[in-house]
Amino acid sequence: MNKMLFAAVVACSLSALAGAEYPELPQKITDETPEQRDARMAWWRNDRFGMFIHFGLYAVPARHEWVKSREYIDDKTYDSKYLPRFNPDLFDAKEWARLAKAAGMKYAVLTAKHHEGFCMWDTATTDYKITKTDFGRDLVREYVDAFRAEGLKIGFYFSIKDWHHPDYLIDVTHPLRPKDPRQYSDEKFAELNKGRDWNRYRKYMWDQIDELLTNYGKIDIIWFDYTVKNPAHPNWGKTYKSWDAVNLVKHTRKLQPGIIIDNRLDLMDTDDGWDFVTPEQFKAAAWPTVRGKKVPWETCQTFSGSWGYYRDEMTWKSGPQLIELLSETVSKGGNLIMNVGPTARGEFDERAKERLAGFAKWMHWNARSIYGCTVAPEGIAAPNGTSVTYNPETNRVYIHLYDYPMGFLPVPWLDRVEYAQFLHDGSEIAIRPPPHSHSQSGDTHLIGGLVTPMLKPGVEVPVIEIWLKK
Ligand code: GLC
Repeated sequence: MNKMLFAAVVACSLSALAGAEYPELPQKITDETPEQRDARMAWWRNDRFGMFIHFGLYAVPARHEWVKSREYIDDKTYDSKYLPRFNPDLFDAKEWARLAKAAGMKYAVLTAKHHEGFCMWDTATTDYKITKTDFGRDLVREYVDAFRAEGLKIGFYFSIKDWHHPDYLIDVTHPLRPKDPRQYSDEKFAELNKGRDWNRYRKYMWDQIDELLTNYGKIDIIWFDYTVKNPAHPNWGKTYKSWDAVNLVKHTRKLQPGIIIDNRLDLMDTDDGWDFVTPEQFKAAAWPTVRGKKVPWETCQTFSGSWGYYRDEMTWKSGPQLIELLSETVSKGGNLIMNVGPTARGEFDERAKERLAGFAKWMHWNARSIYGCTVAPEGIAAPNGTSVTYNPETNRVYIHLYDYPMGFLPVPWLDRVEYAQFLHDGSEIAIRPPPHSHSQSGDTHLIGGLVTPMLKPGVEVPVIEIWLKK
C-alpha cells in the first residue's frame, strides 16, 4: 500500500474513532482563534433573546410554511393561486421593529427566502420575487432599515433548499417527490432529476447570498436552513458537499467578517463551520455539547405549532410557558429566538401581539435576569420549582419562581447570599437562617431560605435578585 493511501486509511480510521461522519473534513476550516470567536459572539451571548420572522407566499394559504411540500403542490398551481393574491398592504416594518424591541428582543432574523424559493428582496437573480407582486417593494430593505433604526442586530434566514428552482435536485422533502415513499429509489429520483443542473442551482444560491450579504449593510447573523440528509440513500438528500459548504462559510465570512452562522450546512464535524447549535421546538435538558464541549446554542421556538402563519393552528403557548422558556433557556447558557409568522396582510396577528406584549411587560421589570446572564456557578442549584440565572459581571443570581412558594423558599446555598429582593419592585426579601434546633413544623425549616409574601405578586413569573457574597 503506498504512503498516501496508508495515510488516508489511518486518517479515516482515526476520524471514524472520533465519530466523524466525514473523515475528509478538517477539524478547523478557518484560522480564527477561539478567543477571536468569543469576541465576535460576545454581543450575541449577552443579548440572549431574538425574534424570528417567517414571512413569504405561504402566508396566503395560511396553513404552515411547508404547505407546498405537505400537499405536493406544483409550481403552476402554487404560483397561479397565491402570487396574484400576495400583497401585504398592511405591512409596516417600523411597527414590527417597535413590537420586537418592546418585547425585549435584541436581534431579529427574517426569512429572506424560505424553502418555497420566493425572494423577499429585489434580487437580480430571478423574477420570483416580492418586487414583482402588487406589493412591489423590497421588504428586506424596509425590515433592515426599521430594525436597525430600533437598535436591533440584523439577521437573515436563507433557505438553501429551493422547491421552485428548476435545477434544484428533487429530494425527499420536495413537492414533486413521489407521493408514495415506497416509490423512492435512486432510479426514481434520477428520473425526476433528469436535465436538472445542480451546479447552475448552486451558483444561483451563492449569487443570492452575495446580494444579501453585500447590498444591505452590516449583517450580524445568517441562518442557513437546512441540509436534508439521507445517509442510507445519499441521492435522496443533500450533504455539505451539495452547497460547497466549506467555501461558502469562508466566502460568507469574507463578505461579513463579524457574522454569526448557524449549524445547518452539515459541517458539524468541523469546529468552525458553524457558530451555534440550533435545538428546535424543544427545551434542551442541559447545555448542549459537541465532542464533549459545551457550545453556543440558541433554541428556536414558535408561539404556536407553525413557523409561517397558520390561521387554524391552535396550540399557542401561554404567557407563563413563554417566560419559563426564555428564563430556563438562559439558565442553561442558551439563547432563545421566538418566531412570529405575519399574516398575508403583513401584520403580526392578535395572538402573536398578545404574547409579545406579555414578554414586554415581564422584560420591563426582569430584563436584568436575562441580558448578560448564563448558567449559575457550581453549588448554586435552582430551588424546587424555579430556575436560576447568573450575571458573572455583577455576581448576582436570579431565581425565577415558576411554582410560587407560599411564604418560604428553602435555599440550600443561603450561606452565599448577601442580600435578596424582588426584581420587579426592588422590595427586600428577608433571609431566614436555618434554625438552631429541630422545628416542630417539619424539615422545611431545617435549612435556611427566603421569606416570600404569602400571595404571589402581580408578575407572570416573579424573580428574586440575589447579591452573592464576594
Ligand atoms: C424547520 C422547519 C422550517 C423552519 C425552521 C426554523 O427546519 O422545517 O420550516 O424555517 O425549522 O428553524
